[in-house]
Amino acid sequence: MKKRKIVVVGAGYVGIAVSIVFSDNNDIILYDIDYNKVELMKSGISPINDDDMCEFFKSVKDNNCYTITNDSEGIFDKADYVVIAVPTNWNQDNHSLDVTALCDVIEQIKNSNKPPIIIIKSTLPLGTMDYLRHKYKALSIFYVPEFLREGSAVKDERNLTRLIIGTNDFQSYHVKDIRSLFLDTQTYDDIPVLITCGKEAELIKLYSNAFLALRVVFFNEIDTYAEIENLDSRRIIEGVSLDPRIGNFYNVPSFGYGGYCLPKDTRELLYIYKKLPADIIPSLVQANVTRKRYIAETIIRRIEQIKASNPLIGIYRLNMKRDSDNFREAAVLDIIAILMDEGYKVVVFEPLRKSFDNYLFTVLDDLEEFKKTCSIIVANRMSNDLLDVCEKVYTRDWF
Ligand SMILES: NC(=O)c1ccc[n+]([C@@H]2O[C@H](COP(=O)([O-])OP(=O)(O)OC[C@H]3O[C@@H](n4cnc5c(N)ncnc54)[C@H](O)[C@@H]3O)[C@@H](O)[C@H]2O)c1
Repeated sequence: MKKRKIVVVGAGYVGIAVSIVFSDNNDIILYDIDYNKVELMKSGISPINDDDMCEFFKSVKDNNCYTITNDSEGIFDKADYVVIAVPTNWNQDNHSLDVTALCDVIEQIKNSNKPPIIIIKSTLPLGTMDYLRHKYKALSIFYVPEFLREGSAVKDERNLTRLIIGTNDFQSYHVKDIRSLFLDTQTYDDIPVLITCGKEAELIKLYSNAFLALRVVFFNEIDTYAEIENLDSRRIIEGVSLDPRIGNFYNVPSFGYGGYCLPKDTRELLYIYKKLPADIIPSLVQANVTRKRYIAETIIRRIEQIKASNPLIGIYRLNMKRDSDNFREAAVLDIIAILMDEGYKVVVFEPLRKSFDNYLFTVLDDLEEFKKTCSIIVANRMSNDLLDVCEKVYTRDWF
């Protein structure tokens, strides 16, 4: 198996997962601008609360085959590949995903002695690959969109659902090597591979997340109707989902889609769709807003029903998924904002929090006190922790 020198830029969910699976067969440099994060990893601690990542950093730390650094000086000079996994956050002013960090990294690579092949893993706004082709004619740039899920990032990376290689040069002899670079890391050897142009790869990523968002809002809308009509949404959804063309998965009601990717990727498509004769994408973004408003109003109705004199609303957990420590754009944050705007007092129980300096709500660390003092407990995902106070819990989760 060919051993390559690979620099991974951005030690987040994507960069760490990619660096771990590539480290089976290759020499890795993991580079991040965040000094604290780098020091943490060097000392054997994962900056992300993920079992596979924690296990990996405990044993690997910093060594000759896996270097962790926040110093970019000379790191690209001897690399065969650079994998870029920096954030592309939603930029409200440009109505697009922000590629500033990505372009900064490419500028640094451009100035290296012998520029390596660039593989972009960050989610791209539509048209970026065309822009990069014109701006950096001398560089070989590929877009391999990422589909991992937080909470199972490393496992997903070893078990790709598909490998998409977006290139603006179909004849490039690098495509074959990129293909084996990824396929060599896989648990199974029947991974579908698709070679596309840059724009098609960009759309595959954005449409995949749009479809997932659509599934969430679709089943949530069934749940809204069922709750209003006092019907069992679980039975309805299971009945619908047992059609194999629909599938009995990814269908459990929630407060709305959220997380890092679905909100920003659907917004990216929404803006493109402003110029198109099409309705689904704009509707799905609006449907998620409507769902969150409906949930907040239902909580308020419940509070009024219990007639507590000074009601305290408890929010049990902020994470979007059971196994994730990520709160970015969690749907429940919007619900908290609506409740607080309406003048309700909110307290949050979130054991995985690092810092809530930017939030206005109060945090309670003692679960027993939380359960005792709250008039109502709101849980996007139900937990055994709450079974003894079931009558106080408002959730749309199945349990
Ligand atoms: N998180 C996911 O589930 C997921 C899934 C698919 C795709 N993606 C995409 O992958 C990209 C990265 O996402 P993530 O969740 O891993 O992000 P993250 O925020 O967890 O990590 C990004 C890391 O990049 C570092 N960074 C920022 N600018 C840098 C620079 N100029 N040089 C070096 N390091 C820099 C940050 O310090 C941070 O550690 C985004 O475009 C995202 O949309 C994420």
